[in-house]
Amino acid sequence: MGIKVAICCALLTALVSRRVYIIMNREIPSNLDEPHLVRWLDEIGRVADAVLHYSHLVGIELSSWPVVKSLASIFFGLLLGNAGSGHKDSYYNYLENFASRAKMQIIAVEYRKTPHHPFPASFIDCVSVLHNILKDPGKYQVAADKIVIAGDGAGGNLAAAVSQELAGKVLMQILINPALQIMDFKTPSYLDNTDVLPGISSPERSVRNWMMYANMTDFAHLPLVLENYHVLQNVRNSEFGNYVKTEKYLPKYHEVTKRSSIPSTRSNYLVSKPFVDLVTDNRFSPMMAKTIKSIPNAYIITAQYDVLRDEAIMYTHRLFDDNIKTKLKHYKNAFHGFFLFSAVGPFQFRVSKEAMEDLVNFLDFHIHSIKG
Ligand SMILES: *[C@@H]1O[C@H](CO)[C@@H](O)[C@H](O)[C@H]1NC(C)=O
Repeated sequence: MGIKVAICCALLTALVSRRVYIIMNREIPSNLDEPHLVRWLDEIGRVADAVLHYSHLVGIELSSWPVVKSLASIFFGLLLGNAGSGHKDSYYNYLENFASRAKMQIIAVEYRKTPHHPFPASFIDCVSVLHNILKDPGKYQVAADKIVIAGDGAGGNLAAAVSQELAGKVLMQILINPALQIMDFKTPSYLDNTDVLPGISSPERSVRNWMMYANMTDFAHLPLVLENYHVLQNVRNSEFGNYVKTEKYLPKYHEVTKRSSIPSTRSNYLVSKPFVDLVTDNRFSPMMAKTIKSIPNAYIITAQYDVLRDEAIMYTHRLFDDNIKTKLKHYKNAFHGFFLFSAVGPFQFRVSKEAMEDLVNFLDFHIHSIKG
Protein backbone atom coordinates (compact mmCIF):
# COMPACT_ATOMS: atom_id res chain seq x y z
CA MET A 1 0.00 0.00 0.00
CA GLY A 2 2.68 2.46 1.09
CA ILE A 3 4.73 1.59 -1.96
CA LYS A 4 1.80 2.18 -4.31
CA VAL A 5 1.12 5.59 -2.79
CA ALA A 6 4.82 6.43 -3.05
CA ILE A 7 4.90 5.40 -6.73
CA CYS A 8 1.77 7.44 -7.45
CA CYS A 9 3.25 10.48 -5.72
CA ALA A 10 6.50 10.10 -7.62
CA LEU A 11 4.64 9.81 -10.94
CA LEU A 12 2.46 12.78 -10.18
CA THR A 13 5.47 14.86 -9.15
CA ALA A 14 7.23 13.91 -12.36
CA LEU A 15 4.20 14.85 -14.47
CA VAL A 16 3.67 18.15 -12.70
CA SER A 17 7.37 19.07 -12.90
CA ARG A 18 7.36 18.24 -16.59
CA ARG A 19 4.32 20.50 -17.13
CA VAL A 20 5.88 23.30 -15.10
CA TYR A 21 9.06 22.95 -17.15
CA ILE A 22 7.05 23.23 -20.38
CA ILE A 23 5.13 26.27 -19.13
CA MET A 24 8.23 28.13 -17.94
CA ASN A 25 10.01 27.54 -21.23
CA ARG A 26 7.24 28.47 -23.63
CA GLU A 27 8.14 30.96 -26.34
CA ILE A 28 6.35 34.21 -25.75
CA PRO A 29 6.95 37.66 -27.26
CA SER A 30 10.17 39.06 -25.86
CA ASN A 31 8.79 42.52 -25.14
CA LEU A 32 6.33 41.35 -22.46
CA ASP A 33 7.34 42.23 -18.92
CA GLU A 34 6.96 39.67 -16.13
CA PRO A 35 7.12 36.84 -18.71
CA HIS A 36 6.56 34.10 -16.13
CA LEU A 37 3.37 35.71 -14.86
CA VAL A 38 2.13 35.97 -18.45
CA ARG A 39 2.97 32.29 -18.98
CA TRP A 40 0.94 31.31 -15.92
CA LEU A 41 -2.03 33.44 -16.95
CA ASP A 42 -1.89 31.82 -20.37
CA GLU A 43 -1.68 28.37 -18.78
CA ILE A 44 -4.73 29.02 -16.61
CA GLY A 45 -6.67 29.95 -19.74
CA ARG A 46 -5.42 26.89 -21.61
CA VAL A 47 -6.48 24.55 -18.80
CA ALA A 48 -9.90 26.21 -18.53
CA ASP A 49 -10.36 25.90 -22.31
CA ALA A 50 -9.37 22.23 -22.27
CA VAL A 51 -11.75 21.40 -19.42
CA LEU A 52 -14.66 23.19 -21.10
CA HIS A 53 -13.84 21.65 -24.46
CA TYR A 54 -13.68 18.03 -23.26
CA SER A 55 -16.73 18.34 -21.05
CA HIS A 56 -18.64 19.81 -24.01
CA LEU A 57 -17.54 16.83 -26.15
CA VAL A 58 -19.10 14.41 -23.69
CA GLY A 59 -22.23 16.52 -23.47
CA ILE A 60 -21.64 18.28 -20.14
CA GLU A 61 -21.99 22.06 -20.12
CA LEU A 62 -19.78 22.81 -17.15
CA SER A 63 -19.91 26.53 -17.82
CA SER A 64 -23.59 26.62 -16.89
CA TRP A 65 -23.18 24.74 -13.58
CA PRO A 66 -23.69 27.15 -10.67
CA VAL A 67 -20.90 25.54 -8.62
CA VAL A 68 -18.43 25.89 -11.51
CA LYS A 69 -19.50 29.50 -11.98
CA SER A 70 -18.96 30.32 -8.30
CA LEU A 71 -15.59 28.59 -8.26
CA ALA A 72 -14.52 30.44 -11.41
CA SER A 73 -15.66 33.72 -9.93
CA ILE A 74 -13.78 33.07 -6.64
CA PHE A 75 -10.67 32.08 -8.56
CA PHE A 76 -10.88 35.11 -10.81
CA GLY A 77 -11.37 37.24 -7.71
CA LEU A 78 -8.16 35.78 -6.28
CA LEU A 79 -6.26 36.69 -9.43
CA LEU A 80 -7.57 40.24 -9.14
CA GLY A 81 -6.67 40.52 -5.48
CA ASN A 82 -10.15 40.19 -4.11
CA ALA A 83 -9.22 37.49 -1.60
CA GLY A 84 -10.74 37.97 1.83
CA SER A 85 -12.34 41.28 1.01
CA GLY A 86 -15.76 39.75 1.58
CA HIS A 87 -17.09 41.07 -1.71
CA LYS A 88 -18.88 38.60 -3.94
CA ASP A 89 -18.12 40.55 -7.09
CA SER A 90 -14.66 39.52 -8.25
CA TYR A 91 -14.14 42.92 -9.89
CA TYR A 92 -14.98 44.88 -6.74
CA ASN A 93 -11.47 45.75 -5.54
CA TYR A 94 -10.33 46.53 -9.05
CA LEU A 95 -13.26 48.89 -9.65
CA GLU A 96 -12.86 50.48 -6.23
CA ASN A 97 -9.21 51.20 -6.98
CA PHE A 98 -10.09 52.59 -10.39
CA ALA A 99 -12.85 54.79 -8.94
CA SER A 100 -10.65 56.27 -6.24
CA ARG A 101 -7.78 56.97 -8.61
CA ALA A 102 -10.01 58.48 -11.28
CA LYS A 103 -11.97 60.36 -8.60
CA MET A 104 -15.18 59.18 -10.20
CA GLN A 105 -18.15 57.15 -9.09
CA ILE A 106 -18.45 53.82 -10.88
CA ILE A 107 -21.79 52.14 -11.42
CA ALA A 108 -21.08 48.56 -12.49
CA VAL A 109 -24.07 47.04 -14.27
CA GLU A 110 -24.90 43.49 -13.24
CA TYR A 111 -26.31 42.60 -16.65
CA ARG A 112 -27.59 39.17 -17.68
CA LYS A 113 -24.89 37.02 -19.23
CA THR A 114 -24.36 34.13 -21.63
CA PRO A 115 -24.86 31.21 -21.96
CA HIS A 116 -28.30 31.52 -20.31
CA HIS A 117 -28.98 35.01 -21.58
CA PRO A 118 -27.71 35.58 -25.12
CA PHE A 119 -27.99 38.78 -27.13
CA PRO A 120 -29.77 41.14 -26.68
CA ALA A 121 -30.26 40.61 -22.92
CA SER A 122 -27.03 42.28 -21.78
CA PHE A 123 -27.49 45.16 -24.21
CA ILE A 124 -31.05 45.79 -23.03
CA ASP A 125 -29.97 45.69 -19.39
CA CYS A 126 -27.18 48.23 -19.88
CA VAL A 127 -29.39 50.58 -21.89
CA SER A 128 -32.15 50.43 -19.31
CA VAL A 129 -29.74 51.16 -16.44
CA LEU A 130 -28.54 54.23 -18.32
CA HIS A 131 -32.06 55.36 -19.06
CA ASN A 132 -32.86 55.13 -15.36
CA ILE A 133 -29.79 57.14 -14.42
CA LEU A 134 -30.54 59.77 -17.04
CA LYS A 135 -34.12 60.08 -15.82
CA ASP A 136 -33.02 61.00 -12.32
CA PRO A 137 -29.26 61.57 -12.13
CA GLY A 138 -29.53 63.25 -8.74
CA LYS A 139 -30.85 60.07 -7.20
CA TYR A 140 -27.60 58.31 -8.14
CA GLN A 141 -25.37 61.32 -7.42
CA VAL A 142 -24.40 61.42 -11.06
CA ALA A 143 -23.41 64.59 -12.93
CA ALA A 144 -25.59 64.17 -16.01
CA ASP A 145 -23.20 66.15 -18.21
CA LYS A 146 -20.17 64.04 -17.26
CA ILE A 147 -21.33 60.49 -17.83
CA VAL A 148 -18.67 58.14 -19.19
CA ILE A 149 -19.46 54.65 -20.45
CA ALA A 150 -16.66 52.12 -20.16
CA GLY A 151 -16.06 48.45 -20.79
CA ASP A 152 -13.32 45.89 -21.27
CA GLY A 153 -13.42 43.04 -23.83
CA ALA A 154 -17.03 41.87 -24.17
CA GLY A 155 -17.83 44.84 -21.92
CA GLY A 156 -16.13 47.04 -24.51
CA ASN A 157 -18.59 45.69 -27.07
CA LEU A 158 -21.48 46.70 -24.82
CA ALA A 159 -19.94 50.10 -24.06
CA ALA A 160 -19.58 50.83 -27.78
CA ALA A 161 -23.09 49.61 -28.60
CA VAL A 162 -24.69 51.49 -25.71
CA SER A 163 -22.76 54.66 -26.63
CA GLN A 164 -24.29 54.52 -30.10
CA GLU A 165 -27.76 53.89 -28.71
CA LEU A 166 -27.44 56.85 -26.33
CA ALA A 167 -25.61 59.15 -28.72
CA GLY A 168 -25.87 62.73 -27.59
CA LYS A 169 -26.69 61.78 -24.00
CA VAL A 170 -23.28 60.80 -22.61
CA LEU A 171 -19.96 62.61 -22.63
CA MET A 172 -17.43 59.91 -23.39
CA GLN A 173 -16.83 56.22 -24.02
CA ILE A 174 -13.82 54.22 -22.88
CA LEU A 175 -13.31 51.04 -24.89
CA ILE A 176 -10.66 48.67 -23.57
CA ASN A 177 -9.70 45.84 -25.94
CA PRO A 178 -13.27 45.90 -27.27
CA ALA A 179 -14.88 43.18 -29.41
CA LEU A 180 -16.58 45.09 -32.21
CA GLN A 181 -17.38 42.92 -35.21
CA ILE A 182 -17.99 39.44 -36.64
CA MET A 183 -17.63 40.41 -40.30
CA ASP A 184 -14.03 39.28 -40.50
CA PHE A 185 -12.32 36.69 -38.32
CA LYS A 186 -9.24 36.97 -40.50
CA THR A 187 -8.15 40.50 -39.72
CA PRO A 188 -4.37 40.79 -39.42
CA SER A 189 -4.61 40.68 -35.62
CA TYR A 190 -6.66 37.46 -35.74
CA LEU A 191 -3.99 35.93 -37.96
CA ASP A 192 -1.03 37.38 -36.03
CA ASN A 193 -2.33 36.05 -32.71
CA THR A 194 -3.40 32.55 -33.67
CA ASP A 195 -0.92 30.92 -31.35
CA VAL A 196 0.85 33.63 -29.36
CA LEU A 197 -0.95 33.38 -26.01
CA PRO A 198 -3.85 31.05 -26.84
CA GLY A 199 -4.95 30.80 -23.19
CA ILE A 200 -5.50 34.58 -23.17
CA SER A 201 -6.51 35.49 -26.71
CA SER A 202 -7.07 33.27 -29.73
CA PRO A 203 -9.40 33.14 -32.72
CA GLU A 204 -11.17 30.07 -31.26
CA ARG A 205 -11.78 31.72 -27.90
CA SER A 206 -13.11 34.85 -29.50
CA VAL A 207 -15.37 33.06 -31.99
CA ARG A 208 -16.72 30.79 -29.25
CA ASN A 209 -17.67 33.87 -27.20
CA TRP A 210 -19.36 35.49 -30.18
CA MET A 211 -21.28 32.29 -30.98
CA MET A 212 -22.49 32.04 -27.40
CA TYR A 213 -23.54 35.67 -27.47
CA ALA A 214 -25.51 34.89 -30.63
CA ASN A 215 -27.09 31.82 -28.97
CA MET A 216 -25.36 29.53 -31.48
CA THR A 217 -24.24 26.89 -29.04
CA ASP A 218 -23.58 24.20 -31.62
CA PHE A 219 -19.85 24.62 -31.80
CA ALA A 220 -19.61 22.11 -34.65
CA HIS A 221 -19.83 25.18 -36.87
CA LEU A 222 -16.95 26.93 -35.17
CA PRO A 223 -14.29 25.98 -37.73
CA LEU A 224 -16.49 27.27 -40.56
CA VAL A 225 -17.22 30.51 -38.75
CA LEU A 226 -13.47 30.95 -38.21
CA GLU A 227 -13.13 30.81 -42.00
CA ASN A 228 -15.78 33.55 -42.39
CA TYR A 229 -18.28 31.15 -44.00
CA HIS A 230 -21.01 32.91 -42.04
CA VAL A 231 -20.64 36.11 -44.06
CA LEU A 232 -22.67 36.22 -47.24
CA GLN A 233 -20.84 37.43 -50.31
CA ASN A 234 -23.19 40.36 -50.92
CA VAL A 235 -22.83 41.49 -47.33
CA ARG A 236 -19.05 41.37 -47.53
CA ASN A 237 -19.15 43.37 -50.75
CA SER A 238 -21.52 45.97 -49.35
CA GLU A 239 -20.50 49.16 -47.52
CA PHE A 240 -20.33 47.10 -44.30
CA GLY A 241 -17.39 45.18 -45.72
CA ASN A 242 -15.50 48.47 -46.08
CA TYR A 243 -15.42 48.98 -42.32
CA VAL A 244 -12.97 46.08 -41.93
CA LYS A 245 -10.69 47.04 -44.82
CA THR A 246 -7.17 47.52 -43.56
CA GLU A 247 -6.13 49.62 -46.58
CA LYS A 248 -8.70 52.17 -45.51
CA TYR A 249 -8.63 52.03 -41.73
CA LEU A 250 -5.37 50.44 -40.55
CA PRO A 251 -2.61 52.85 -41.55
CA LYS A 252 0.86 51.35 -41.81
CA TYR A 253 2.34 53.95 -39.46
CA HIS A 254 0.88 52.11 -36.48
CA GLU A 255 3.35 49.34 -37.25
CA VAL A 256 1.20 46.70 -35.60
CA THR A 257 1.33 44.18 -38.44
CA LYS A 258 2.74 43.36 -41.84
CA ARG A 259 -0.50 41.80 -43.06
CA SER A 260 -3.55 43.33 -44.70
CA SER A 261 -7.19 42.30 -45.21
CA ILE A 262 -7.90 39.17 -47.18
CA PRO A 263 -10.37 40.22 -49.89
CA SER A 264 -13.22 37.76 -49.76
CA THR A 265 -14.59 34.48 -48.55
CA ARG A 266 -16.96 31.75 -49.53
CA SER A 267 -20.25 31.65 -47.71
CA ASN A 268 -22.40 28.80 -46.57
CA TYR A 269 -25.96 29.69 -45.79
CA LEU A 270 -26.33 26.83 -43.29
CA VAL A 271 -23.72 28.39 -41.07
CA SER A 272 -24.71 31.91 -41.72
CA LYS A 273 -28.42 31.59 -40.98
CA PRO A 274 -28.40 32.47 -37.27
CA PHE A 275 -25.50 34.87 -37.67
CA VAL A 276 -26.52 36.62 -40.86
CA ASP A 277 -28.49 39.51 -39.40
CA LEU A 278 -26.09 39.92 -36.50
CA VAL A 279 -23.13 40.54 -38.82
CA THR A 280 -24.59 43.94 -39.64
CA ASP A 281 -26.62 44.62 -36.47
CA ASN A 282 -24.77 47.44 -34.76
CA ARG A 283 -26.22 46.59 -31.34
CA PHE A 284 -24.34 43.28 -31.67
CA SER A 285 -21.44 44.46 -33.89
CA PRO A 286 -21.03 48.16 -33.09
CA MET A 287 -18.40 48.56 -35.78
CA MET A 288 -21.12 48.10 -38.41
CA ALA A 289 -23.07 51.23 -37.44
CA LYS A 290 -23.87 53.12 -40.64
CA THR A 291 -23.81 56.46 -38.95
CA ILE A 292 -21.71 57.43 -35.96
CA LYS A 293 -21.93 61.19 -36.37
CA SER A 294 -23.09 62.11 -32.87
CA ILE A 295 -21.66 59.34 -30.73
CA PRO A 296 -19.63 60.30 -27.64
CA ASN A 297 -15.92 61.11 -27.76
CA ALA A 298 -13.82 58.04 -27.28
CA TYR A 299 -10.74 56.78 -25.46
CA ILE A 300 -9.72 53.47 -27.00
CA ILE A 301 -7.14 51.07 -25.58
CA THR A 302 -5.60 48.33 -27.71
CA ALA A 303 -2.98 45.66 -27.06
CA GLN A 304 -0.53 44.18 -29.53
CA TYR A 305 -1.17 40.56 -28.51
CA ASP A 306 -4.93 40.54 -28.90
CA VAL A 307 -6.99 39.16 -31.78
CA LEU A 308 -9.29 42.17 -31.31
CA ARG A 309 -6.48 44.69 -31.83
CA ASP A 310 -7.16 45.72 -35.42
CA GLU A 311 -10.92 46.11 -35.23
CA ALA A 312 -10.46 48.64 -32.43
CA ILE A 313 -7.82 50.53 -34.43
CA MET A 314 -10.01 50.48 -37.55
CA TYR A 315 -13.03 51.71 -35.58
CA THR A 316 -10.85 54.50 -34.17
CA HIS A 317 -9.98 55.66 -37.67
CA ARG A 318 -13.64 55.70 -38.63
CA LEU A 319 -14.30 57.91 -35.62
CA PHE A 320 -11.42 60.17 -36.69
CA ASP A 321 -12.98 60.44 -40.16
CA ASP A 322 -16.30 61.44 -38.65
CA ASN A 323 -14.66 64.05 -36.41
CA ILE A 324 -15.48 62.28 -33.18
CA LYS A 325 -12.74 63.33 -30.74
CA THR A 326 -10.88 60.11 -30.16
CA LYS A 327 -7.72 59.10 -28.35
CA LEU A 328 -6.14 55.79 -29.32
CA LYS A 329 -3.68 54.27 -26.87
CA HIS A 330 -1.95 51.23 -28.29
CA TYR A 331 0.28 49.23 -25.95
CA LYS A 332 2.86 47.25 -27.88
CA ASN A 333 3.88 45.10 -24.93
CA ALA A 334 0.41 44.15 -23.74
CA PHE A 335 -2.05 41.30 -24.17
CA HIS A 336 -5.85 40.99 -24.19
CA GLY A 337 -7.32 41.83 -20.78
CA PHE A 338 -4.09 43.32 -19.44
CA PHE A 339 -5.81 46.41 -18.07
CA LEU A 340 -7.36 44.40 -15.23
CA PHE A 341 -3.96 43.72 -13.72
CA SER A 342 -3.18 47.31 -12.95
CA ALA A 343 -4.01 47.61 -9.33
CA VAL A 344 -4.23 44.93 -6.71
CA GLY A 345 -3.65 41.20 -6.46
CA PRO A 346 -0.89 38.74 -7.28
CA PHE A 347 -0.87 39.43 -11.01
CA GLN A 348 0.35 42.94 -11.77
CA PHE A 349 2.11 44.23 -14.84
CA ARG A 350 4.06 47.39 -15.42
CA VAL A 351 2.25 48.03 -18.70
CA SER A 352 -1.12 47.66 -16.96
CA LYS A 353 -0.16 50.25 -14.36
CA GLU A 354 1.09 52.53 -17.11
CA ALA A 355 -2.21 52.20 -19.00
CA MET A 356 -4.21 52.93 -15.84
CA GLU A 357 -1.99 55.96 -15.16
CA ASP A 358 -2.49 57.23 -18.73
CA LEU A 359 -6.26 56.87 -18.46
CA VAL A 360 -6.45 58.51 -15.04
CA ASN A 361 -4.40 61.48 -16.31
CA PHE A 362 -6.60 61.75 -19.36
CA LEU A 363 -9.77 61.76 -17.26
CA ASP A 364 -8.25 64.34 -14.91
CA PHE A 365 -7.66 66.62 -17.82
CA HIS A 366 -10.80 65.98 -19.88
CA ILE A 367 -13.48 65.34 -17.27
CA HIS A 368 -12.46 67.03 -14.05
CA SER A 369 -11.36 70.20 -15.79
CA ILE A 370 -14.85 70.68 -17.27
CA LYS A 371 -16.89 73.10 -15.23
CA GLY A 372 -20.11 71.34 -14.30
C1 LIG B 1 -31.43 30.06 -27.48
O1 LIG B 1 -31.49 28.80 -28.11
C2 LIG B 1 -32.25 27.84 -27.43
C3 LIG B 1 -32.20 26.54 -28.22
O2 LIG B 1 -30.91 26.18 -28.52
C4 LIG B 1 -33.68 28.31 -27.30
O3 LIG B 1 -34.44 27.37 -26.55
C5 LIG B 1 -33.72 29.66 -26.61
O4 LIG B 1 -35.04 30.17 -26.59
C6 LIG B 1 -32.82 30.64 -27.33
N1 LIG B 1 -32.78 31.87 -26.58
C7 LIG B 1 -33.01 33.06 -27.12
C8 LIG B 1 -32.97 34.25 -26.19
O5 LIG B 1 -33.25 33.21 -28.29
